[in-house]
Amino acid sequence: MRFPENFLWGVATAAYQIEGAVNEDGRGPSIWDTFSHTPGKVLHSDTGDIACDHYHRLEEDLDLMASLGIRAYRFSVAWPRIQPEGSGLANQKGLDFYRRLVAGLRERSIEPTLTLYHWDLPQALEDRGGWTVRETSERFAEYAGIVYEALKGEVGAWITLNEPWVSAWLGYGAGVHAPGRRDISEALAATHHLLLGHGLAVENMRSLGGNDRIGITLNLSPVRAASEDAADTEAARLVDGNANRLYLDPLFRGAYPEDMLQHYASESDFSFVRDGDLETIAAPLDFLGVNYYMRHTVRAAAEEGRSRFPGMRAEMLIPPGAQTTAMGWPVEPDALTELLVRIDREYTQVPIYITENGAAFYDYADPEGDVDDEERIEFLDSHFRAAHEAIEQGVNLAAYFVWSLLDNFEWAEGYSKRFGIVYVDYPTQRRIPKMSARWYADVIRRNGPPDTNE
Ligand code: FCB
Repeated sequence: MRFPENFLWGVATAAYQIEGAVNEDGRGPSIWDTFSHTPGKVLHSDTGDIACDHYHRLEEDLDLMASLGIRAYRFSVAWPRIQPEGSGLANQKGLDFYRRLVAGLRERSIEPTLTLYHWDLPQALEDRGGWTVRETSERFAEYAGIVYEALKGEVGAWITLNEPWVSAWLGYGAGVHAPGRRDISEALAATHHLLLGHGLAVENMRSLGGNDRIGITLNLSPVRAASEDAADTEAARLVDGNANRLYLDPLFRGAYPEDMLQHYASESDFSFVRDGDLETIAAPLDFLGVNYYMRHTVRAAAEEGRSRFPGMRAEMLIPPGAQTTAMGWPVEPDALTELLVRIDREYTQVPIYITENGAAFYDYADPEGDVDDEERIEFLDSHFRAAHEAIEQGVNLAAYFVWSLLDNFEWAEGYSKRFGIVYVDYPTQRRIPKMSARWYADVIRRNGPPDTNE
């Protein structure tokens, strides 16, 4: 099984999850500093204060990637390192760190893929309303312009936002992520201002010239009703609307889905949508980033859930017999094929990059010093095959970034969930490539997973 020539194999990380050094070189506080330091929000009160200490171990981590033959690295820029207060002049020391990172990648022939926003909103902007106010969209576009000016021409691909659904619904709807607010009307306003911020950022970056590729990353999940029962089918439609169409439709069709506007009519009058916003949001992109973790199997619930789908009478099931990861997420690689084909048929033919896929398992270093994560190899192998199947069905898939290079700070789960292909022994910060890292290096060399009979 071979992937197309020049297929880009990469790994992904995010600033707050790995960098640490939260008070260094002029970095300001973000909503994740505030949230993780608020008792009861993150498991075991873990914070990103030190994380993988990547800020201080940049060269070592770059060498590690080079030794594995990684071709592309997706990282995120911490907005509060560039604008500690969320506006105004750039903090040069913050920019310097990412200049060093990008230069170090290029020296090692690893293509930099840069995410501008992976959830670390400067706290100063949250204090003024965060993503529920329009001003934040404008500030984001300004910040995007600063980073673009500094690094354009050096970066393979620019991703404006990572997973706006998670920012809006887990951050402002369910309150399980920073900033921890629980209000459906705020989650709707945040959805719009995130998308608008994306559109304004694209506009601003394009106006600064250069031919850099620009896109956005969405977390998408195919949705299946648990039964043919009308109530379950209805629940599945609503969840699909919230998780997928609420983002894909404005970006690729220039309109919010009618059924979602109706569903939320009692929560919001959508007066935050102004003339011209949807055209801004639907500006043409060079690629679509897709983060895929699981399918949602959904059934009708008696009450509106407060967790994953606030405001919907729907709950998720683990399909009988499905394997689950340490996150409790069902392993369903065939849903990745289904998702990629749907995007191609219903929304866009721009190249798709899988900007995240991976899994947490109960990894440990054994007495020999090995981390034998066979489950992760099996997981990745089956998902690579599912992606290849989508390519055979005509999908223009161009890149695949495994989440993650390193075990890291898994948001509300703290350090308890290990997603890395490299194990991190946190007290010593020692990096131990897991069995899956060596296997992935082989996949990259062959441009596809090894044959099963080898
Ligand atoms: C995604 C996030 C990423 C990581 C993975 C497991 O939603 O983008 O930072 O936490 O989930």
